[in-house]
Amino acid sequence: MATTIAVLSQKGGTGKTTTVRTLSDVLSRVGLETLAVDLDPQGNLSDYFDVPADAEPTVSDVLAGQAKAVDAIHGGIVPANLGLAESELVLSGKMGREMTMRRALREVKRHYDFVLIDCPPSLGLLTVNAVVAADYALVTTEAQYFSLQGVEQALEVIELAKENLHPDLEWLGVVMNIADMRLVHSREALSQLRERFGEKVFDSVIRASIRYAESAERGLSIIDYRPVLGADYLALADELLGRLGLEAERERLGELRAELVPA
Ligand SMILES: Nc1ncnc2c1ncn2[C@@H]1O[C@H](COP(=O)(O)OP(=O)(O)OP(=O)(O)O)[C@@H](O)[C@H]1O
Ligand SMILES: [Mg+2]
Repeated sequence: MATTIAVLSQKGGTGKTTTVRTLSDVLSRVGLETLAVDLDPQGNLSDYFDVPADAEPTVSDVLAGQAKAVDAIHGGIVPANLGLAESELVLSGKMGREMTMRRALREVKRHYDFVLIDCPPSLGLLTVNAVVAADYALVTTEAQYFSLQGVEQALEVIELAKENLHPDLEWLGVVMNIADMRLVHSREALSQLRERFGEKVFDSVIRASIRYAESAERGLSIIDYRPVLGADYLALADELLGRLGLEAERERLGELRAELVPA
């Protein structure tokens, strides 16, 4: 059964989509069958995966019960488009609305090692569906003054889901993303997070770089486009596998790291 991780944040632009995209890439490279799921009507993740705009069925059809998840996989991703905004409205009037994604993914999870779900920048019904479908919730945050507040809000949703819908849900941790550690306020944001959440804050920090926008534009993974920066995500993946107790996979990742980023 796949380990399922939902990547969430209340705020926009904290690097959720880039995290899902790059971790999918890294995990696939170490031989782990990885499925990405786009639960954001913006469809950014689907663009990254080069899914044609008219691809069908999409995650909307899956949530509406009109398609099976397995039939909505297009090249490693269950894509989303703007139609998902409407599906969210329809879903909100239904019984068991928070459990829909969980049910839809049950069958498909057998065929993968990992399922990574990208959430929209809000803590509404789609994000709740993602965390309820997941084993773990991973929170991303920018290195800003208000990052602590944003993480607290995401945690509240995780706690509520745990209490009311999915007792086995675990908070995997929080990743400081798009961080410029030369700036005092970024360093302060990180130390505040560490003070408040301790070990839950990943040691790996994803550095800010214009290369991410460039790599997205070129349709390349940062791992290929700028391996030196991609190293941040390799380190994050290593920590993540460590937290999940996947030591053999971690070893394979070690080999990949040595290949991509020679010491
Ligand atoms: N480490 C980074 N450094 C600089 N820019 C980055 C970095 N990671 C991602 N970006 C860029 O920042 C923007 C936001 O990233 P991304 O789309 O991953 O965030 P998001 O949290 O998914 O946003 P949204 O909330 O809108 O879905 C994108 O243009 C992306 O290319
Ligand atoms: Mg996004």
